[in-house]
Amino acid sequence: MTADTAVHLFEETFGGRPSGVWSAPGRVNLIGEHTDYNAGLCLPIALPHRTYAALAPREDRLLRVVSAQGDGVVEVSLDDVAAGRPAGWAAYVAGVPWSLERAGRTVTGVDVAVDGGVPLGAGLSSSAALECAVAIAVSDLCGLDLSTSHEGRVTLAAACVEAENVVAQAPTGGMDQSAALLAEQGHALLLDCRDHTTRQVPFDLDGHDLALLVVDTRAEHQLVDGQYAERRASCERAAQELGVASLREIAGDTLEDRLTTLSSDLLRRRARHVVTEIARVEAACVALEAEDYRTLGRLFLESHASMRDDFEISVPELDTAVSAATAAGALGARMTGGGFGGSAIALLPRDEVDGARRAVERAFAMHGFTGPESFVVTAEGPAARDL
Ligand code: GLA
Repeated sequence: MTADTAVHLFEETFGGRPSGVWSAPGRVNLIGEHTDYNAGLCLPIALPHRTYAALAPREDRLLRVVSAQGDGVVEVSLDDVAAGRPAGWAAYVAGVPWSLERAGRTVTGVDVAVDGGVPLGAGLSSSAALECAVAIAVSDLCGLDLSTSHEGRVTLAAACVEAENVVAQAPTGGMDQSAALLAEQGHALLLDCRDHTTRQVPFDLDGHDLALLVVDTRAEHQLVDGQYAERRASCERAAQELGVASLREIAGDTLEDRLTTLSSDLLRRRARHVVTEIARVEAACVALEAEDYRTLGRLFLESHASMRDDFEISVPELDTAVSAATAAGALGARMTGGGFGGSAIALLPRDEVDGARRAVERAFAMHGFTGPESFVVTAEGPAARDL
């Protein structure tokens, strides 16, 4: 997956050279799951895996899109982009200039060739990587000047979220797009989804002989099916019953008292996950700043238990990955991302990585699960122009 492959695909499909190539990373969230749409906190890192997009502007309003991972060219006029149109992966591309235009920016049609290096369906935000690569490209090509400042990138992230929520019809919360546009190398991005402020938190595993292992369980997850939307609706209902604008407003120390007023045990458990998870993000930042990776590991495990038992978004493959990695020496492990499949992460002493990998593979084989893919990741940089 390189910039050159995207150029080659562009030339083969559209003829002529693209004006440039832009790329954006996938992410793993260290901690803070399903907190973004509750005005809470989350702590993602940008992955070394990137999606590349080669683009050239057009004189008309046509969008032509091709992907090395798709089949054939999708063509749509900017005037025809709407909720659910175009369908499929092209929505994540076409939705971006559409949203920027709705926000009053002047954009043109573009030809786009994509080569995606973020594993699909693994819960690592391949869709946000695609949106964000296109967003900085369109900004640069149309002279919008949004890629060079923090504020500009926040504006681009909002356009990508609108593209995903409206055009692709996935009711996601915005963490992934901020990670892809704002996370910096060697850092995790603390994202406050109430006031949209961010802070770079040092994440130096090398200096502590640690490694972060991602286990893609290959139990495929889908954010456009009903489960994610159901969790989001439950949180909104809980906030409404509690008389607060969002679950962020419920403080940890009064939690159990406040939760008893909710109308069902289900809502109590959903709300408890969100409120305790936000507190765990705060504790994780304190731990990272103190270089206390043992505490970070413990918080990973508490987070996983909360997602498994209270929020009910784990699956047997994720639980197996977490317990096998922990038994094999991980300081902590947890599922990451939206859930219902996708990936787990494990924080490991560097020399325990191979053993943990083998232990996870053995545990999957024993349960009769499809073999997982696992790889070590580092915190890398945000969306940028490559060529
Ligand atoms: C998905 C969504 C994010 C976030 C996570 C869960 O990745 O795209 O907005 O809600 O799930 O933390």
